[in-house]
Amino acid sequence: MKKILKLGIVGGGPGSWIGNIHRIASRIDGKYKICAGSFSRNLKISNTFGASLNLEKNRCYSNYKTMANTEFKRDDGIDIVAIMTPPGSHQIIAEYFIKKNFHVISDKPFAATYTQAKKLYSTIKKNKKIIYGLTHNYSAYPMVRMAKKLVRDKKIGDVEFVNVEYVQDWSKGIVVNKKNSKKIFRWKLDKKIVGTSAVLNEIGTHAYHLANYISGLKGNSLFADMKKYNKNINLDNNAQVLLNYENGAKGLLWTCISARGGNYGLRIRIFGSKGSLEWVQNDPNYLKLNPAKGAVKILEKAFHEADFSKNFARVKPGHPEGYVDAFANIYSEVADHINSKNKKKEYYYPTAYEGLLTAKFIQTCVDSSRQKKWLKF
Ligand SMILES: NC(=O)c1ccc[n+]([C@@H]2O[C@H](COP(=O)([O-])OP(=O)(O)OC[C@H]3O[C@@H](n4cnc5c(N)ncnc54)[C@H](O)[C@@H]3O)[C@@H](O)[C@H]2O)c1
Repeated sequence: MKKILKLGIVGGGPGSWIGNIHRIASRIDGKYKICAGSFSRNLKISNTFGASLNLEKNRCYSNYKTMANTEFKRDDGIDIVAIMTPPGSHQIIAEYFIKKNFHVISDKPFAATYTQAKKLYSTIKKNKKIIYGLTHNYSAYPMVRMAKKLVRDKKIGDVEFVNVEYVQDWSKGIVVNKKNSKKIFRWKLDKKIVGTSAVLNEIGTHAYHLANYISGLKGNSLFADMKKYNKNINLDNNAQVLLNYENGAKGLLWTCISARGGNYGLRIRIFGSKGSLEWVQNDPNYLKLNPAKGAVKILEKAFHEADFSKNFARVKPGHPEGYVDAFANIYSEVADHINSKNKKKEYYYPTAYEGLLTAKFIQTCVDSSRQKKWLKF
């Protein structure tokens, strides 16, 4: 019988939308039990929130260090921690738990800065006992996995162009000024918390990760044009990036947090020598396969030629699955990896190395935009 992993949570308390997604996703396949948490740095809030999840009071903490130390000493202590605090603390929290040999699932970005990312990556690499998974959740949709396989199987030939965009409108149409900006953007205005770049760390990171994930390619040089909200609001809200990939393919990435009407617009198109693929997050159960010649095919999740995507689906074809299900795939795969004795099995969840590459990409974008020149990375 497979072990149900005892899960501890840091962050994701009252007001955190993503915290709820993590908790649901962790429970979908019955591979985890939430046993402890530090949901806020305020003990009263953490206790009340923990009680709403039926946690024992002595397993609710306001400090992640106390949580790691206490859980480490308990016979029934947690096996794994899930981190969903704002970016500035991802590295220090993850490292603290890793040093005590707890497995980690962390939300993105991998770390707030490239310097932090290198440190964290090195800590992860040194510890052979732990598994680390990063919730770049878009890469876990069944039809994204299908797209990855089609590219890998050369169904679209050699990749020549990668176009990806992820745009949102964080102010939901409200005109932002200095006065209301704090309420709208909160910690995203604080460099120490949001890290190298607000738009890139928060959503551009997903776009770049997805492009690499499906194409199987790494970028090696780029030119970025970034923009700040305005002279009163020190938050970069837009990035347009030209990319060269290692095989000579050309890439284009657009990410923006003030695209009016931009409603979670994540879309990707990959063009190869034999055809192209197109996937849009708002319609995630379908993948367009456009052959170089002939009619376009709409592949459907878990159906006919998209049979491979069944491996990442829970319900039958024709029944939609979405964001939470994709998130749950990462939780599920990390649990399987922890419980597996088969060291050769391939897993699809996003890794620390992928996180390191996105952190390097983000730093290079900021440098390129400042210097107004192409940079290798
Ligand atoms: N994968 C995704 O699709 C996705 C979506 C949204 C947010 N996120 C990521 O999730 C993270 C959190 O974002 P958010 O929007 O939920 O932020 P938030 O500010 O809404 O919530 C953060 C929560 O963490 C708690 N917290 C902060 N520091 C803590 C600490 N040291 N110890 C214990 N609790 C602490 C706060 O009390 C709060 O409840 C960010 O890294 C963000 O990029 C990911």
